[in-house]
Amino acid sequence: MGDKLVLDNAKKAAAYKAVDEYVKDGMNVGIGSGSTIKYAVDRIKELGLKVTCVPTSFQSTQLIIEAGLVLSDLSRTPKLHVTIDGADECDKDFNIIKGGGACQLQEKCVAYVSDTLLIVADYTKDSVQLGDTWKKGIPIEVIPMAYVPVMKKLESLSLKPVLRMAVNKAGPVVSDNGNFIIDAIFTPPLQNIPQLAIDIKMIPGVVETGLFINMAKKLYFGQKDGSVISK
Ligand code: 5RP
Repeated sequence: MGDKLVLDNAKKAAAYKAVDEYVKDGMNVGIGSGSTIKYAVDRIKELGLKVTCVPTSFQSTQLIIEAGLVLSDLSRTPKLHVTIDGADECDKDFNIIKGGGACQLQEKCVAYVSDTLLIVADYTKDSVQLGDTWKKGIPIEVIPMAYVPVMKKLESLSLKPVLRMAVNKAGPVVSDNGNFIIDAIFTPPLQNIPQLAIDIKMIPGVVETGLFINMAKKLYFGQKDGSVISK
């Protein structure tokens, strides 16, 4: 089996297990973003679960619509039973980096109002310390007018900020909220991650960071053989 197929199977296994264990008829469910979450939506559809879905991005809005599931938003559904989302890296203490797809702001808003946040990912996202496997840094959403001073301040926090550019390099990536994304590259180990998350968030112009601390209840990692390790 090719590498991509193995990874896709691992993602699918994790997402299916999370849905099977947690999602029940009548629930309000947050739908994360990324390639893994597609499988969670597939499984909800396959099981015919009668749930109300709140998306975390344009991408997940489309997934919900295409699957024919009930679409809501945080104004109409401000309290969720469970959110299922992907991750870029998770450490042994459940510190998580998200935002590889630039969706961390809405993802965090949705996760914050959820009784339970479940992370679904393939085995490459399971690490001992942040930065072991994810080399692209901490995604930070900033308002466009402040990105230069924010980058300078991030340097003083021993981070190496890079403005995320569109694939064709024509300009910066613009988030669903009209903001830029700075990827703050770091050399592991990160010291005092909860404090670092606060320090970054306190910089004027920063809207949200991709550090999710003390938020996830359970992590599901799909393995190469299709089994799932949950923590
Ligand atoms: C988007 C995210 C994604 O959940 C994260 O990047 C994981 O994506 P994938 O499931 O494609 O590996 O945080 O902002």
